[in-house]
Amino acid sequence: MIMLDWQETLLDYLGSSNEDDQIIKFISEIILPELSKLEEIVWLEVGPGPGTKTKQIVQSIRKSKTTHLRQLCMVEPSLTWREFQTTHCPDLVKVGELLDLTFEDYVHGYSEVTRFHPNFITCIHVLYESELIDKFISYLKRCEHGQSSLVSCIIVESEQSDFYKLRKQLKELGIVKPVQAVREIRRVLAMNEIRAVEKEIDGQSFRLQDGEQGLDWLLQFLIGCESNKYLSLPIDIKNEGKSIIDKFIARKNSRTLDVPDTSFMISIGCL
Ligand SMILES: C[S@@+](CC[C@H](N)C(=O)[O-])C[C@H]1O[C@@H](n2cnc3c(N)ncnc32)[C@H](O)[C@@H]1O
Repeated sequence: MIMLDWQETLLDYLGSSNEDDQIIKFISEIILPELSKLEEIVWLEVGPGPGTKTKQIVQSIRKSKTTHLRQLCMVEPSLTWREFQTTHCPDLVKVGELLDLTFEDYVHGYSEVTRFHPNFITCIHVLYESELIDKFISYLKRCEHGQSSLVSCIIVESEQSDFYKLRKQLKELGIVKPVQAVREIRRVLAMNEIRAVEKEIDGQSFRLQDGEQGLDWLLQFLIGCESNKYLSLPIDIKNEGKSIIDKFIARKNSRTLDVPDTSFMISIGCL
């Protein structure tokens, strides 16, 4: 059985799904036109991870005839991802600054010291914890009181995603916590009286590898843990988890899972 570290699991997933392509298409067709009113884009990408989406969004902005990218700042707390980007996306690291910061560090230090004021902020598959959702949306609220305009795009797993449905079924085993990110983001936006345009990003799918290895892979991915933690889980729990996944796939009659995302677009200021 091959067990992978979390970062490798994510790369594996991105390689077996069309998530990057569908998200780039969505951003190019729906979000970038909103930015065309800006002459220059000053972009803050929160948690670019491997940078596979970031580098393609840069290319889409470059193709745009109406606006151009003045500055890109990526805040990425994971050393593994920063090293990955330096090795695999050297062009991206030349275009943008890749900073060893969390979003919280960025807000409470970096932005004040450097006076970096983004007018485009993306959080793609980053806002899954209540505390971070609160902090990010409070930051947008403070931006409302500022002088400048900005567009922010938040993307998280949809509740229609087979991953979300599977996590709900696996919850009873006590090893998976389904995160209700979409609901939490809606709730916090409403609480702060911030209007957002919510859209489903359809057409995303993922093909699960055949056999037991595929089931172990998916269970570890859904738990979101490192291989040593997965290996240390009781065998009967893992077997039950794999059986839940197996039955889900049998009912679907396909090893291709539908994994749509939900996006929130927030425009602040005169845009
Ligand atoms: C699931 S990955 C998504 C990576 C990439 N955005 C994508 O969609 O391919 C989540 C990323 O968010 C980063 N992250 C987690 N917490 C963060 C925080 N508080 N501030 C900034 N980035 C964070 C992680 O290090 C990781 O790179």
